[in-house]
Amino acid sequence: MCGIIAYTGSRQAAPILLAGLRDLEYRGYDSAGVALLPEAGSEPAVAKRRGKIAELDGAIGEHALPAAHTGIGHTRWATHGSPSDANAHPHTGCGSDVVIVHNGIVENYAALRAELAGRGHAFDSETDTETIAHLLEERLDAGSDLLAAMREACARLTGSHAIVALSPREPGIVVGARIGNAGGVVVGYGKGEMLLSSDLAALLPHTREVAFLADRQLVRISGDRVDYAGLDGSAADVVPRTLSLDPASADKGAYDTYMRKEIMEQPAALADTIGGLMTVEPPRLSLDDLGEARPWLERVERVLLVGMGTSLHAAMVGRWYFEQIARLPADIDNASEFRYREPVLGPETLVVSVSQSGETVDVLEAMNVARASGAPQITICNTPGSQTTRVADGTVHTYAGLERGVASTKTFTTSIAALFALALETARVRGRISEDDLARHVRDLAAMPEIVGRQLESFDAIAAAAERFRTTDHILFLGRGPALPIALEGALKMKELSYVHAEGYAAGEMKHGPIALIDSGFPTVALAGQHALRSKIVSNIEQIRARDGEVLAVVTEGDDELIALANESLTVPSVPALLEPLAAIVPLQVLAYATAEARGCNIDQPRNLAKTVTVE
Ligand code: G6P
Repeated sequence: MCGIIAYTGSRQAAPILLAGLRDLEYRGYDSAGVALLPEAGSEPAVAKRRGKIAELDGAIGEHALPAAHTGIGHTRWATHGSPSDANAHPHTGCGSDVVIVHNGIVENYAALRAELAGRGHAFDSETDTETIAHLLEERLDAGSDLLAAMREACARLTGSHAIVALSPREPGIVVGARIGNAGGVVVGYGKGEMLLSSDLAALLPHTREVAFLADRQLVRISGDRVDYAGLDGSAADVVPRTLSLDPASADKGAYDTYMRKEIMEQPAALADTIGGLMTVEPPRLSLDDLGEARPWLERVERVLLVGMGTSLHAAMVGRWYFEQIARLPADIDNASEFRYREPVLGPETLVVSVSQSGETVDVLEAMNVARASGAPQITICNTPGSQTTRVADGTVHTYAGLERGVASTKTFTTSIAALFALALETARVRGRISEDDLARHVRDLAAMPEIVGRQLESFDAIAAAAERFRTTDHILFLGRGPALPIALEGALKMKELSYVHAEGYAAGEMKHGPIALIDSGFPTVALAGQHALRSKIVSNIEQIRARDGEVLAVVTEGDDELIALANESLTVPSVPALLEPLAAIVPLQVLAYATAEARGCNIDQPRNLAKTVTVE
């Protein structure tokens, strides 16, 4: 979950590393650090501090860093050992012969630590990571070069890892390794310089030519050279790709927070995604990266959608699309549950994973389970080249641009648009949809960016409705049918941003328990919409009102009956029922945002969270 950045080349490394860490802070913000390798012969200079990058900047101000053209940096989400200066990365062995940063968990660290201590190694931190530095130190002392030492050290580790190291024995060199799914290592190709990072975000200001390390791969970079190898010692041939992502999308622009910017970017992100997957005139789908998965759309008997967090909620919307549009049996599963359940599936099941980062560990492990079962796979992903796109047989790309707010917004709506397109394509190849219906669905989806744009013109008016939640402790979010995933997502946004306890529930469950919570101090957000189940939600609202419960209803414009029934309402434009999730989530994103703002919460970096979860 941690962020990693490394630089070697002709420029000064320190400012590049510190800027990179700011770009990666969404990965974790418990502590941060850098190590710089001054010219040949001198020891690496390490600066690290508990807290956010600003604390590290302050610490560096006190002890200016030396000039150096090679260095590594890290922003941490603590796993082993509390967030402290000592536990912050980078870590060294006993001496300063090697410095490393790491993402992952050394599962056998207790045994390794005891073994290393038995050979006289003294430890400075409580981290599992430090064992890797001591292992590397031993291998360097035994005569291995840094790349070989990394390979040999990795052979001793269990668990998943991304590791980056430098050594004064090899000035100008940085080595990286990826084992398993603890997060990516992306290689950035510059002019007379090379970079490594956990994420594209830190590379894009410098280059768009990148390569992703595969599982069990190593890389060694210098200013003008890159070498890849397998962990088994074999040479690896990796061809970089040039991304079309815009580095400007990494800036906050005129906004106070990334999240507000990303909420406001949804019309453009949707338009780009829809434009990348279909044309309206003539109505034609162009899912060009389905690859080897394409023939399976016709053959499979069911679809299983997996994801985590917000992406799981998008997958739940996708289930509706596969059932309603393609008439294919569809299920969803939380990837972290699926992977351990010994699920029964094979080539008859199309597994569709949803992941904005393409690096979420549970999604990747679920995909490995699916692959071992022989199930064909498609991933819906916002990060070209990421691990889910490498494991899946085919990809449906979303074109939301970089998302930096820890709470996902624009990648939720674009994933839904991509799932809609995939369900249409599945229906088309299976002969389950007429040309007219296909054209209608394509037109309806293509109209959504403008509709969402109009909704966002009322950002401040929607935000005003959050005033009632400033002091509340609990909120219930209710939905049915295609609105259920939106209720779950609205509750997730509320709890992760504002720390208000929010529960999303299927409205039909109300009378089976949750209604016992209702009194005048327990507000409900009810998603009504105009889908076939609207009348059922009306009953739920009546029942809540009859028990003095307060209801904020999200209703279709002109639905006067519901507007009169609820204590307060937010309206969404009338759109086809299947596309209601795209419109209904907008006010809930704004409500959560405004509630968090009113409660003084850190919107882009909510406590305890990280944007990409790469450890279990
Ligand atoms: C974290 C993020 C969420 C995201 C989830 C899944 O929990 O905070 O915003 O929805 O991971 O991430 P993915 O990259 O797989 O979509």
